[in-house]
Amino acid sequence: MRVHPSPQSPGGVRLACLLTAGLTLIQTFPGAPAEASGSPRGAFSPLPEAVVPRLERGAVALDFEPQVLDALIAEVMASHEARAHLKQIDLRHEPDPNMPLVSVAHGPMVQVLTNLIGNAVSYAPAGAVVTVGTRVDAARGARFAAVRVHNSQPAIPPEDLPHLFERFFRGRTGLESGEAGIGLGLAICKEIVERHHGWIDVESDPAKGTAFSVWLPLDNETPR
Ligand SMILES: Nc1ncnc2c1ncn2[C@@H]1O[C@H](COP(=O)(O)OP(=O)(O)OP(=O)(O)O)[C@@H](O)[C@H]1O
Ligand SMILES: [Mg+2]
Repeated sequence: MRVHPSPQSPGGVRLACLLTAGLTLIQTFPGAPAEASGSPRGAFSPLPEAVVPRLERGAVALDFEPQVLDALIAEVMASHEARAHLKQIDLRHEPDPNMPLVSVAHGPMVQVLTNLIGNAVSYAPAGAVVTVGTRVDAARGARFAAVRVHNSQPAIPPEDLPHLFERFFRGRTGLESGEAGIGLGLAICKEIVERHHGWIDVESDPAKGTAFSVWLPLDNETPR
């Protein structure tokens, strides 16, 4: 079963920035003023009220640059290796050597990958395989860079699928895992990917596990 999230107001990122430890404004939107946080990168700090209206107006610009997606993925996967090893999860990267450079905002895209790979490692049980792959694919009449984060187990119950990208939604797989979380990660991913003019979807099936795919446009394709 494949689910595309319904369009949502851009509030997800803003609220998440206010409420989620480790998901600060500075990490997600490097264009925000440094004084907005007043604390080291990665530390939790509620934003001063003055910053929130800037975000609400969409005034914080993302800084797009051509990037090697598989290098970003490798960077994020390295930071999850120890936890995957402890949980006896096999973490695999399947890069596409022919992937062109993709225009992304580095910090926010690292945040997306961190949320997706972090979820897969968090919610997969011992013995599961987590595979992160990239490919160029056609969709909606154009060419896209697709990043697929797949965990061989567990499947997400069908009744949870329509709610995954809603703010503060924790599904059964999240609750039963015993892992901490407040249900904002996927709402943040959706917001950031849509700011890249792409989208994110999920497929989940008891026989195949769960896969989240991020689709990013290749309209200004740059060969490597
Ligand atoms: N890879 C996955 N495999 C199985 N279930 C998943 C996976 N990713 C997300 N989920 C389910 O989707 C729910 C929402 O995920 P989301 O990342 O938005 O929030 P969270 O992980 O619960 O909390 P947070 O990201 O705020 O720490 C999770 O609670 C979990 O039930
Ligand atoms: Mg999460």
